Amino acid sequence: MSKPVLEPDTAADFIVLHGRDCTAVLERADPGPPLWRYWGPRLPDGALPEAALESTRPLPSFSLDAEQPLSLFPLFGVGGFTAPALAAHRAGHDFAQAFTACEIVWTVPGQALVCRLTDAVAGLEVEVRMEMHADASTLTLGATLIHTGEGVLDVGWLAAAVIPLPPQSTEVRTVTGRHNAEFVPTCDLLGRNGWSRENRRGLTSHDRFPGAVVTTAGAGPHTGTTYGAQLAWSGNAVQRIEWIDDGRWQWQLGEGLAPGEIRLARGERLVSPEVLATCSAHGLDGVAQNFHAAVRARSDWPGGTMAPRKVHLNTWEGFYFRHRLDELKALADAAAEVGVERFVLDDGWFHGRDDDTSSLGDWWPDAAKYPDGLAPLVHHVTGLGMDFGLWVEPEMINPDSDLYRAHPDWALHLDGRPRITARNQLVLDLGREEVRAYLLDRIGPLLDALPIAYLKWDHNRDLTTAGHQGRAAYHTQVRGAWALMDAFRNRWPGVEIEACAGGGGRIDAGIATRTHRFWTSDCIDAVSRMGMQPGYLQFMPPERMGSHVGTAPAHSTGRSQSLDFRAAVAMTGHLGVEFDLRRLPQADRTRLAAWIAFYKRHRDHLHGGRVWRGEAGDGLVWQAHGAADGALLLFVYRLTPATQKYAPPVRLPMLAEAGPLRVRRLRPEGLSPERTGGAPWFDRLEGDGVAVSGAWLAASGLPVPAMTAESCVIYSLSKDLT
Ligand code: GLA
Repeated sequence: MSKPVLEPDTAADFIVLHGRDCTAVLERADPGPPLWRYWGPRLPDGALPEAALESTRPLPSFSLDAEQPLSLFPLFGVGGFTAPALAAHRAGHDFAQAFTACEIVWTVPGQALVCRLTDAVAGLEVEVRMEMHADASTLTLGATLIHTGEGVLDVGWLAAAVIPLPPQSTEVRTVTGRHNAEFVPTCDLLGRNGWSRENRRGLTSHDRFPGAVVTTAGAGPHTGTTYGAQLAWSGNAVQRIEWIDDGRWQWQLGEGLAPGEIRLARGERLVSPEVLATCSAHGLDGVAQNFHAAVRARSDWPGGTMAPRKVHLNTWEGFYFRHRLDELKALADAAAEVGVERFVLDDGWFHGRDDDTSSLGDWWPDAAKYPDGLAPLVHHVTGLGMDFGLWVEPEMINPDSDLYRAHPDWALHLDGRPRITARNQLVLDLGREEVRAYLLDRIGPLLDALPIAYLKWDHNRDLTTAGHQGRAAYHTQVRGAWALMDAFRNRWPGVEIEACAGGGGRIDAGIATRTHRFWTSDCIDAVSRMGMQPGYLQFMPPERMGSHVGTAPAHSTGRSQSLDFRAAVAMTGHLGVEFDLRRLPQADRTRLAAWIAFYKRHRDHLHGGRVWRGEAGDGLVWQAHGAADGALLLFVYRLTPATQKYAPPVRLPMLAEAGPLRVRRLRPEGLSPERTGGAPWFDRLEGDGVAVSGAWLAASGLPVPAMTAESCVIYSLSKDLT
């Protein structure tokens, strides 16, 4: 394909989208897709390339006479050598593609567009959508493939986004982990052989979060040009970063498709998941803040806006499958007394469910545990002024269940292959309309009859033999699960949903639009959570981060921490309590109530602004919530005992421009000050506090009192200097 030479300097040849912090510039290359010219920190208005890309690139030896630079949607086989955004064929034919027409339609001028690309020879069309969210500084990208030819188009890959990364990109960071140990950070050097990551577990997964952050030379936690992208998808996912001949990299993200999974008849289309892509000059924190803003912008809260995140009591670790009405009522009483606002009845409430070997699918109250149904407990809870929440795992089925005995074919399976169980359960085929209808009909009456305000929606296994009539059904499974969630949301719009999958196995920006909280991990050991929270917060906002005060020793690790530390760690997310409160000594109950009151006083601040995370060194880490002008809540945690005589001050780089600030020590009411090492300055932080220059805090740092391991001090920083 020969590329027409463009007039080099007419603005109409360029597509420009500006966010607050970033700019995207593409060059029109009709009939081919627009070429990526720039994606990076915000350029001044009107800053455009002086010349068309082609006119600036001398042709290297051993090259095509018309080389194809990186475009919004590269193709294979007709001159394209970079990883293509599409892999498709029609019974072995039309494996090579090139666009014959390109039309750009601005849906919101300067902000959102659709790029319509046609390949008249291969018989297909692609629509690439781009939208810049100016405040979030995030581009939302997505692609739709439409088959316009004869026969069947077999699709192996459709990139949801193709994002350029500059030559100075150095490292890729993301998170991995497992059940009970989510959000373990990884960091890989970017080299000429690129980077890739594939999730084949059928749901978002504990180990292959579908997103990453790429830093450039010199970038770090708070400064430097840093890129981020995440796929809004709750299933199989592929990410690929490929070095290209001009020294840049291209980053593709998309749904991972099983062989033969997508076969489009004429007129059929495949819609990719969306990608959130961002860039910031403020390092990892800048990217995290943009992601938080983008996920907030996609959120769909009952009533339109987020209500203060209510304090939960979850029954799981305190009771597991042992449900006794009198005990649960007493637990609810104890919860209400300490200030809990939502009581969530976890697994164990439904027909025959005494352990994890049976009953998933039989969604009606167990007659032995709840002879009068759930009403007595629900009304007891709501009578105490709390919301009632209920655990469900709709997508699952135990072979030992009435549902399975009636409909064994409803489980995802492949004939001739074993039905591989995990936690004794199989997965229902959510692509089937009648399966979704059954779940609505079975769970729905409970929501109709009782004031249930909340569902904790679980998914406790990976997918295997995910087949429907012999064909791969991963894609339809995700679409079906989302459709079921949407159906619940439509019918009961006031009900919030928590996304859980053995803790954090389904945390992604796709499910975020239909749910309101993530259960971050089944591990609620506070030290472990300190390891997970920075990774979680890199991609998702704090108000969705389910974080509970658990018991000591923690069930998942056997480690113990003080109640104060457990509470201080849980404080910054969506707070909950998860143990048998009835057994807590009165003095500790009073302490816990003080922490809960503290959370309620500060939650708007914790959940409404920006988040910064940092390490001061020698076992000290910090997290600040608020605004860069200085209205901040600062949590300083000591994780390990000090090895230095004097603790390193906590430097707060985001305050460089903040001017003078008043720093005050905060603590829950009634809790007495801890030993501060005897230095008088720390006493002055009590009460009215001390005025300190923001520039000083940024450059030199805030002194830290003597702290024991696994403890926290909290400060407020404010503009109020009086
Ligand atoms: C999963 C969840 C837990 C709990 C159990 C119940 O493991 O992550 O919080 O709900 O299921 O079986």
